[in-house]
Amino acid sequence: MIIRPRRLRRTGAIRNMVRETHLSTHDFIAPLFVKHGKNVNDPISSMPGQFQFSPDTLINEAEELWELGVPALILFGLPDEKDPTGSRSWAEDGIVQQGVKAVKDHLPDMVVMTDVCLCEYTDHGHCGVISDGHVDNDATLELLAQQAVSHCDAGADFVAPSDMMDGRVGHIRHALDNAGYQDRGILSYAVKYASAFYGPFRDAADSAPQFGDRTGYQMDPANALEALKEAELDIEEGADMIMVKPAMPYLDIITRVREITLLPLAAYNVSGEYAMVKAATSKGWLDGERVMMEMLIAIKRAGADLILTYFAKEAARKLKNEN
Ligand code: PBG
Repeated sequence: MIIRPRRLRRTGAIRNMVRETHLSTHDFIAPLFVKHGKNVNDPISSMPGQFQFSPDTLINEAEELWELGVPALILFGLPDEKDPTGSRSWAEDGIVQQGVKAVKDHLPDMVVMTDVCLCEYTDHGHCGVISDGHVDNDATLELLAQQAVSHCDAGADFVAPSDMMDGRVGHIRHALDNAGYQDRGILSYAVKYASAFYGPFRDAADSAPQFGDRTGYQMDPANALEALKEAELDIEEGADMIMVKPAMPYLDIITRVREITLLPLAAYNVSGEYAMVKAATSKGWLDGERVMMEMLIAIKRAGADLILTYFAKEAARKLKNEN
C-alpha cells in the first residue's frame, strides 16, 4: 500500500486546513531610518523601497503601517553630528528622540522600539567607545544606559540594544528602573553575528566602522553553542524578548534558541537578505513577492514569534489582500 501524503495537498481548501504555520501582520516589526530635516523622503539605493525619513514624514509611514495592522516599528537614527563617544545618541533633541515623540504623539498605541547602539553616532563607527585602539566594554555600558533612558524619556516602549557589549542588558534594566521606567521593555539583540549581510544597512545608517571590523564583539557565524550562552545571559539579565540576527542564514539558531527560552523570540531579516531579493527581482531572476512570503514563513516556522523586516509593509499589504 502506498501512503499518500498528497491527499492533504489536493485542493487549496485542504491545504489551508492543514497549514502548520501562519503569518500575521502582528508578527512584523518595521525598521525605519530617521534623520534631521523636514519633508525628507530619501530613497536608500541599496534597499529599493526603503527611505530615510524626517520626523514629519516618519509619521506618515508609521500611520500606513499601523493601518495595515503592523503594530510596531524600530527606529534607527542618523545624527547631525558624530563624535568619539556618540553623544548625540542620548541628547534630548537627538534624532531618534524626535522620531519617537513624533510617532507617539500621533499614534500613541503604536509600539515604538529604538535601536540602542553607538555605531551610528560615533565618528569611528564602532558600537562602543575606543580605548587604546579597542572597543571598551565597560566604558560603553554607561553610555548605552543613558541612551536607553533618553529614548524612554521620549516615549519609547521598548529599547533594543544591538551593540553586543557584555552585561548591557542588566545595566540598561537597572538604569531604566532607576529612572522610573519599570514598565518599559528590553528587546535584546542577544544573538547577533558579525555578518556581511548588514552591508546595505551600513549605507542606510551611515554606520560602517572606519577601522577594523566588528568581529571583536559580534559573534562568529560558525558558533551555535555560543548563541545559546548569549541568549541565556540576556534572559538572566532581564531581557523581555530576545532576538537572533540575521534570520535566513541562521534558521538553525532560531530553532535552537526557541527551545531554550520561554520569552518571545524575534528574528531580524536584515538589510542584505532584503537587498538580495530586490536585486534578483529587478533582474527578473526571482518572483520577489513569492520569495518574500516564503522567507517570512520559513523564519516563523523555524521558531521566531516576531520578525523585524524591511518587507513589513509589502508583506502586510499582501496578507491584507488575501483576507
Ligand atoms: C547597529 C545595527 C546594525 C544593524 C542593526 N543594528 C548594523 C551593524 O551591526 O553593523 C543591521 C541591520 C540590517 O542589516 O538590516 N549596531
